[in-house]
Amino acid sequence: MDILFASSEAHPLIKTGGLADVSGSLPRTLKNSRQEVRLIMPAYPQAIAAAGALQCVAELTLPVARTPVRILLGRLPNSRVRLYLVDAPEYFDRPGGPYGEPGGTDWPDNAARFALFARAVCELAMDRAGLNWRPDLVHCNDWQTGLVPALLASEAQRPATLFTIHNLSYQGLFDRAEVAGLGLPDSWWSMHELEFHGRISYLKGGLVFADWLSTVSPTYAKEIRSAEFGCGLHGLLTHRRDRLTGILNGVDYRDWNPGRDRLIPFTYTARTLRLKQENKIALQNAFELPSRPDIPVFGHVGRLVEQKGLGLILDLIPELLQRPMQLVILGTGQPELEQALRAAHTAHRSKIGVRIAYDEGLAHLVEAGSDTFLMPSLFEPCGLNQLYSLRYGTPPIVRRTGGLADSVVDANGPNLYAQTATGFVFNEPEPDQLLHAIDRALNLYAQQRVWKDLVQTGMQQDFSWEQSAKVYVDLYQQILDLRIREAGMRRTASNPF
Ligand code: ADP
Ligand code: GLC
Repeated sequence: MDILFASSEAHPLIKTGGLADVSGSLPRTLKNSRQEVRLIMPAYPQAIAAAGALQCVAELTLPVARTPVRILLGRLPNSRVRLYLVDAPEYFDRPGGPYGEPGGTDWPDNAARFALFARAVCELAMDRAGLNWRPDLVHCNDWQTGLVPALLASEAQRPATLFTIHNLSYQGLFDRAEVAGLGLPDSWWSMHELEFHGRISYLKGGLVFADWLSTVSPTYAKEIRSAEFGCGLHGLLTHRRDRLTGILNGVDYRDWNPGRDRLIPFTYTARTLRLKQENKIALQNAFELPSRPDIPVFGHVGRLVEQKGLGLILDLIPELLQRPMQLVILGTGQPELEQALRAAHTAHRSKIGVRIAYDEGLAHLVEAGSDTFLMPSLFEPCGLNQLYSLRYGTPPIVRRTGGLADSVVDANGPNLYAQTATGFVFNEPEPDQLLHAIDRALNLYAQQRVWKDLVQTGMQQDFSWEQSAKVYVDLYQQILDLRIREAGMRRTASNPF
């Protein structure tokens, strides 16, 4: 199959979260399974710098863009995947992140930036860029690519489209004034198309128009059909439930493997766990905590946003201070959460280590050096850190939601006895439920033999991308078959002879 994979970030070119991990690994794994998959992203300066050799292979004249948009061809690093970078300096060549200014505020022209990106993706998808390649299917990801299925819907002879929801709470909502002049069809301003409470939703472009929808875990695919998780879109998602599939993300064990990890001081395996202890000392040093091999370290890495359940952790700080444990947190995000964490660190330096930063190396050290990983997310479409922590022998403590529910087996009596337990799972996002899970972890940690079994069971779990990639290939095929059937039916209906 020929697949065009469209994403707004991909590791190691540019990353703000798990979307980049997926967009860097899934295409590479698909390519290794002999699918012709090509990745397309905006040409941010970081991506250009990280991509290595690039050559301009096309120039597109797009509505609204003042100058021709160049298509740069290279390779996704460490892979055989062809990479297309959409080079429109007016939109993408600026310091800061893919979506916002260096300080974090969204770019004021995001509506225009991702409309332009979508138009460029469509030109390639329709083989109008002179590249002599026509994908069978365009795989779009999150709101930044939501206009692609919507634009393609009006094309005759178009490729099939799959839209993957990585996070329903980011919707790409824009006011009329922001999209005025972008040449978007007027018909989109209807609640049956892209309108969402008086604004335009790029996400809805994908949800309404893609041939098929997917989410990054089976449980999230169910949850988003409810009012609690549906972000106001549960009606639409329920309507489309026959074309909504959940596929759990995988892990790139080339990057996340404690036996080979170049970013940690001591590599280790399930058989050399004493070396994990050395990483723990290194972690305590890095966070300026007392070196105490006997005290369990609870780690957390992530975007500091409400979704991740940091409010629960902050609420519990007085309780946690009374327990024999240390807490380390690495992240950046909402200023009020950063501020609250900094304050907790300042007041309790011997028990709470905090680093407000985006630091790849330190993220690996937190996985390797912590004894357990805290991920009490309010919702979690998939979550990758709990998968990483399983492999690093760092049993995760998670809420039973989304991909967390699909990947962590609770350390209750029967599961421990059956040696299937891998972490600690609680149901409701309430501080006392999280505290109870933490206490259960402290309890088991004190029983070193049971703890070691838990750690080793987690390390043996296989969440490699190969498995999920096979499911994607089957889904792509199913969508192509459906598209062929539907196109045939339309021909028959309009031209019965
Ligand atoms: P999300 O995509 O919602 O942010 P995931 O768990 O899927 O959550 O993925 C988060 C990814 O981003 C992981 O690879 C994690 O290590 C990385 N990450 C998040 N915050 C930081 C940080 N402050 N420093 C380094 N890596 C981070
Ligand atoms: C989103 C979700 C996260 C998921 C990631 C990659 O950012 O918040 O749960 O793992 O996308 O799919």
